[in-house]
Amino acid sequence: MELLSFQYFLFLIFLSIYLYQHFFISPKKYKATGFTVYPIVGTLPSFLKNRHRFLDWTTEILTTCPTNTAVFRRPGKIGGIITANPSNVEHMLKTNFDNYPKGDRFISLIEDFLGHGIFNADGELWKVQRKTASYAFNTKSLRNFVMENVKTEIQSRLIPCLAKAAETGCRLDLQDVLERFAFDNVCKLAFNVDPVCLGGGDGERASGSDEFMKAFDDAATLISGRFLYAFAFVFKIKKFFNVGSERRLKESIATVHNFADSIIRSRMEIEELGDHQDLLSRFIGITEDNNSPEFLRDIIISIILAGRDTTSSALTWFFWLLSSRPRVQLAILKELATIRIRNGKSIGDTYNFDELRDMHYLHAAISEAMRLYPPVPVDTKACLNDDVMPDGTILRKGWFVTYHAYAMGRMEGIWGKNCREYSPERWLKDDDGTCQVESAFRFPIFHAGPRMCLGKDLAYIQMKSIAASVMERFEIDVPNKNTCPEHLLSLTLRIKGGLPVRVLSRNA
Ligand code: HEM
Repeated sequence: MELLSFQYFLFLIFLSIYLYQHFFISPKKYKATGFTVYPIVGTLPSFLKNRHRFLDWTTEILTTCPTNTAVFRRPGKIGGIITANPSNVEHMLKTNFDNYPKGDRFISLIEDFLGHGIFNADGELWKVQRKTASYAFNTKSLRNFVMENVKTEIQSRLIPCLAKAAETGCRLDLQDVLERFAFDNVCKLAFNVDPVCLGGGDGERASGSDEFMKAFDDAATLISGRFLYAFAFVFKIKKFFNVGSERRLKESIATVHNFADSIIRSRMEIEELGDHQDLLSRFIGITEDNNSPEFLRDIIISIILAGRDTTSSALTWFFWLLSSRPRVQLAILKELATIRIRNGKSIGDTYNFDELRDMHYLHAAISEAMRLYPPVPVDTKACLNDDVMPDGTILRKGWFVTYHAYAMGRMEGIWGKNCREYSPERWLKDDDGTCQVESAFRFPIFHAGPRMCLGKDLAYIQMKSIAASVMERFEIDVPNKNTCPEHLLSLTLRIKGGLPVRVLSRNA
């Protein structure tokens, strides 16, 4: 009997060792998929080990895949692909657009915050909003409204704030300043309310609406954290018991919704009296069938989210990149001086639309910063039906499909051997120095196809105006300029801990 139990014991030990080795020690590498795939747990161990450096880890893997596309498997039936291949990007965003919606999983994860606003809707719900929004975004009067707001905020807040930092010699978190600027600006655009989150030289900020920005920030960060759970049921349990991050999320969403609701209700009551230029008024005017306060709130919050951290992210990385590249700084300053001389302007005068359009080198320098540090570095859709990508990758119904804009900026096949170098010149035409347009499938920074970003032109107006006004007056000095800051990956690509800078007056 004892011998039998000993043999039984030995059998168990050997079985455990075999299973352990089979499942955990000898992972199989699926040919041409790139990720190490373990039985049962799929790619989960590698994901957990590398999720803090998700973008660089996945870029390394995509670089080694023959078609820059990798298959990703997680426990349960979650499978998907990550691609940095322009033909695949074109297929998912345009050619077979209907097969790649945002999908129920994505939508349900952020629904608590965004409802069914344009950024979080598919099918008919999305189409109605897209049509309305395209109409509103494509008017000259909206462009003028944006130009006017940007000009006012630069002159009355951004410049005084930087001038004060230059005068006192105090360090400033440039990322925070740019995020505050963008938030004030997009709120003005969305509902003509100025939250005054960026104080001027006196540093004065409006307290009530500062709370709105803080709540918006928390809600966006906490909701994007839901994507990083290894198992979605964990956040669902936290939500059910209203504990931890889910409790904080619920509170911040309530603050955001209350703030937006109060503006929308009061505006709907008095709308016929006003002549507002903002998007809310335009939506009230054109969406007669669909202008419930909730519908308007969803679409407005989506737009704030879409425009909030994107331009600030691009500019933060732009200023960091420039801090160690005096040659590029000089080229931009030279271009600005040429435009000023041609139009009889002085430093401090703001630039009009035509002058901004003539800033080809600056346009290239900003685009190049976004190529290497895309504000939206990865973007995910769902696969509705089995499909085959142009590179031959097979996709199953229900899988996710992610295009990796960050990796695409680092692919030799797209940008050549010097793909990791920051070189604005790659955008300029040899003959006349104008900035060339790149295919949106090779450079999908603003998305592509029917869901392409609606704010692209407004974003360039804002970014070029800020960069020009700041650079001609100040030098932005970044301590540790030669070390790449750590990524903070929320819905956009930010810098962990902010970007502390010293501001120096150029004419000092
Ligand atoms: C550098 C700045 C910006 C970048 C890189 C950018 C990028 C993007 C990307 C990648 C998407 C697609 C997201 C998705 O559906 O998966 C998008 C959508 C969108 N963007 Fe932008 N964006 C920028 C600025 C803005 C601004 C300033 C606004 C407006 C205030 C804006 C409004 C929108 C809207 C409304 C959509 C939704 C389009 C749709 O789903 O049909 N964006 N943007």
